[in-house]
Amino acid sequence: MAAYDFETHEYDVVVVGAGGSGLRATLGMAEQGLRTACVTKVFPTRSHTVAAQGGIAASLGNMGPDSWQWHMYDTVKGSDWLGDTDAMEYLAREAPKAVYELEHYGVPFSRTEEGLIYQRPFGGHTTEFGEGPPVQRTCAAADRTGHAMLHTLYGQSLKNNAEFFIEYFAIDLIMSEDGVCQGVVCWNLDDGTMHVFSAKMTVLATGGYGRAYFSATSAHTCTGDGGGMVARAGLPLQDMEFVQFHPTGIYGSGCLITEGARGEGGYLTNSEGERFMERYAPTYKDLASRDVVSRCMTLEIREGRGVGSEGDHIHLHLNHLPPETLAERLPGISESARIFAGVEVTKEPIPVLPTVHYNMGGIPTNYWGEALNPTETDPDAVAPGLMAVGEAGCASVHGANRLGSNSLIDLVVFGRAAAIRAGQVVNAEEPSPRVNSASVERAFDRFDGLRNASGGVRTADLRLELQKTMQSDAAVFRTDRTLGEGCQKMKSIAGKMTDLSVTDRSLVWNSDLMETLELTNLMPNAIATVVSAEARRESRGAHAHEDYPDRDDVNWRCHTLAWTDDHDTVRLSYRPVHLDPLTPADEGGIDLARIAPKARVY
Ligand code: FUM
Repeated sequence: MAAYDFETHEYDVVVVGAGGSGLRATLGMAEQGLRTACVTKVFPTRSHTVAAQGGIAASLGNMGPDSWQWHMYDTVKGSDWLGDTDAMEYLAREAPKAVYELEHYGVPFSRTEEGLIYQRPFGGHTTEFGEGPPVQRTCAAADRTGHAMLHTLYGQSLKNNAEFFIEYFAIDLIMSEDGVCQGVVCWNLDDGTMHVFSAKMTVLATGGYGRAYFSATSAHTCTGDGGGMVARAGLPLQDMEFVQFHPTGIYGSGCLITEGARGEGGYLTNSEGERFMERYAPTYKDLASRDVVSRCMTLEIREGRGVGSEGDHIHLHLNHLPPETLAERLPGISESARIFAGVEVTKEPIPVLPTVHYNMGGIPTNYWGEALNPTETDPDAVAPGLMAVGEAGCASVHGANRLGSNSLIDLVVFGRAAAIRAGQVVNAEEPSPRVNSASVERAFDRFDGLRNASGGVRTADLRLELQKTMQSDAAVFRTDRTLGEGCQKMKSIAGKMTDLSVTDRSLVWNSDLMETLELTNLMPNAIATVVSAEARRESRGAHAHEDYPDRDDVNWRCHTLAWTDDHDTVRLSYRPVHLDPLTPADEGGIDLARIAPKARVY
């Protein structure tokens, strides 16, 4: 047994992660008087939400008619009919409330002439249940919306006495012998001390695992830490095969150019100067859903119509837009294009390429954010003491494909929902749980084993092998062959985890050890992704399987569950999609016939 001294902290709630969902959950918990700790491996305002650009979807109707039912319809269609109907209704219905709350907390939204929150068009957001023109639904703070939200939510959380443990790395969940989550074991990166957080509710808000890929818009910190901890606790991950490629990552660097750029009138062209999206999506063109646009770009490149000396990317034009619009609405991406592509957007097109951007899959939850531990008899069984929100969770509100700007709204709607639910199920009068010491010891043993790892494989080398394999074998388009190879390669990569080498044994700012811990989190996320993808014999949303090009609702309208508690084996099972809405049609809910599956065309 590894001997580490540790400090014990007792809270009602511990939130792991301080991005948009973690901060919104933290704030909501603290506002209700729950003793709330937020532990985060980066300073809150440096969380990856800071990179969210284009905005947050809500049917405010500030720029023209809109309704939550239209928003729900678009989300259902965007999800390619894999999202859970109750969660999608909850998102669309609560979105306006959640955005007005942000406004009142102080988020500095851009404004219309009349002083209303400015809203822009985004891909897949329409009017009249997909029959009308695009809608302006995405509320924006120029192209720095996530940045604005983080600063506001952090300030409000401090004001409400939430306590922050900054630059603390969460090693593992503490689980009781009968499967109740009792908190988390953490390492303070800054001074090397160890900490046990005992809590009645643990909320994982650790973001996605974009860094399982070689080229991603995600920050280097997006290593699926919550998914890794959940997998090691013997709980499943859900719908991991659905990985979103954003159409416009800057060619080479992968930096995001917001979809808001196309919302403001930008368009894509191929080497012939053709606006090719008109051919593929005659109605919504460049504002089709992003899985569709990414596939069309990939097809253009494959068929020899890519731009550049190697014909391997596409052009995004903003140079026809008034310079004042670019300066007012898109200042951030104008700067990114200058720095990362050497392009002056008022004069030249930006070289772009579909780039990994978002994980639809994650820790399965209900729409209150409660983590699930599905059984054969109860596919919705709750894992007590544990919640997951934001990109770490899978509510499942995005199904097989997320619409742009539905991420920021997911963060705040479900961060807020988790707080509301915790207010109902956490008893602040009760003492915090006496944590299971065996579980704490297991976490320290694992930590110590990695700290003293003296094998032959460097963490950075194995991570690169993992990233390159995922990039080539679990890509925009997949086949039986690529996925089969991907499974084999990932199994072999996972097998090398026992031969890792960590050269720095210190405890203070040991980035070698931290990156190794992160690799142990990337690994279960990545292997679950490729194995789940290999098993799904259809095409749906972001999972474009060339050997099974059609969606198969009879056999595959179901959620994949993947257990991977050791690193290299994955066990799959499936659970049903929730088909029932929360509100019946005769009480103002959506008419179910409206959201019945049909061909998904834009
Ligand atoms: O394009 C963007 O601004 C990204 C938004 C999103 O992923 O929701």
